[in-house]
Amino acid sequence: MTQAPATQAPITQVKPLRSAATGAIQGSIRVPGDKSISHRSLMLGAIAVGETVIHGLLEGEDVLHTAAAMRLLGAQAERDAAGVWRVRGVGLGALQEPAQVLDMGNSGTAARLLMGLVAGHPITCVFTGDASLNKRPMARVTKPLEEMGARFVGRSGGRLPLTVVGSGDLVPISYRLPVASAQVKSAILLAGLNTAGATTVIEAEPTRDHTELMLRHFGATVTTERLADGALAVTVTGQPELTGRTIHVPADPSSAAFPAVAALLRPGSELLLNDVGMNPRRTGLYDTLVEMGADIAFENRRDQAGEPVADLRVRHSALKGVVVPADRAPSMIDEYPVLAAAAACAEGTTVMLGLKELRVKESDRLAMVAEGLARCGVSVEVGADDSLTVHGTGGTGKGPKGGATVLTAMDHRIAMSFLVLGMATEEPVSVDDGAFIDTSFPGFVGLMNGLGAKIGEA
Ligand code: S3P
Repeated sequence: MTQAPATQAPITQVKPLRSAATGAIQGSIRVPGDKSISHRSLMLGAIAVGETVIHGLLEGEDVLHTAAAMRLLGAQAERDAAGVWRVRGVGLGALQEPAQVLDMGNSGTAARLLMGLVAGHPITCVFTGDASLNKRPMARVTKPLEEMGARFVGRSGGRLPLTVVGSGDLVPISYRLPVASAQVKSAILLAGLNTAGATTVIEAEPTRDHTELMLRHFGATVTTERLADGALAVTVTGQPELTGRTIHVPADPSSAAFPAVAALLRPGSELLLNDVGMNPRRTGLYDTLVEMGADIAFENRRDQAGEPVADLRVRHSALKGVVVPADRAPSMIDEYPVLAAAAACAEGTTVMLGLKELRVKESDRLAMVAEGLARCGVSVEVGADDSLTVHGTGGTGKGPKGGATVLTAMDHRIAMSFLVLGMATEEPVSVDDGAFIDTSFPGFVGLMNGLGAKIGEA
């Protein structure tokens, strides 16, 4: 067995990349494993009794940071030569106090979910991250966890570096989410695991439910109840017996979005994306693309360890602008940058509503997308209501101009989205730094070039 490194080296080397116009995108691929499911499988495996076997774990930097943190908390997490990960859990309530700072790198999901999990243990942990993560708001998680009895000392705005003083004696709460965030919901449910009684999170808008599905898979009781106002109450019963399981991680629909949009944009393309996670709380981008006129066939729909998956056959299509309603945001929150690239090449105007949460992702994605598109000669407006309007160049016989370098602000999805745009612009598009692509999509450049892309060093 190969022991993966206990801590990840920070991404320090800047990697400018450039993408030039391509012909048809063709092939049959499987993009790497789902990031959300990968984090959760390591965390739940670490607190279960016995061995959890994970097939298809995303080996991106974000997830490797979670693996390293779970080891520092006492679990074993190893990868065998065939790429299968085995986690030997310590049992619920038995996480050990780490002797080192937990460095979560670029990953908000890793930081927030793990803060919830350790809050329910009688240990003290110090969390930090890279320059992007240390800017992101954590009060959305620390506030409800404080209500349960955990204590936090962080920087202003509850930012990392931050110390969590957990407790094995938290009180269960019922908490209505003030923002539609699966990370906040998950942090509270994970804190509720080692808490006697029922912990409830109420969400007005549905957010991804991988935590709930996987908790059930490991043996916990998680129930849902529709309230009179339409909100959903999700309740976990504390102190369950969690048993190690086998997990097959589907291909990440958020990563599949990049080759999918590339194929839609390039004439003559036909691309098969295998094994893509189709959890309905993740598929807002695909619904939107179909509304725009995309030819996407969802073949061989099936269930894989509680998560729906399908093979996506994507063919070049003439896209038309649409209005994307605000209530779709939670189901496509990470896909707006690549949708904006598609919209820039579509015929007519696309309006994306309700994008406030984009401002607190790995970067201020609303600002970065708008600025990058403008640099590429696309007409865009950001509304005071946090909407984004993109005027497409489709139907004019010309693609967007391109010929610019776009800033990425340590944001993997901004980098990948603009490299996809560069496949369809008149002049190449460069990104100032593609190094962060490794957080979620290791091998992106090679995989895309294998399909016909022309991405190289800038
Ligand atoms: C994630 C939830 C989303 C998403 C992130 C992954 C998760 O964040 O942006 O990439 O795994 O729970 P929010 O739930 O905070 O919007």
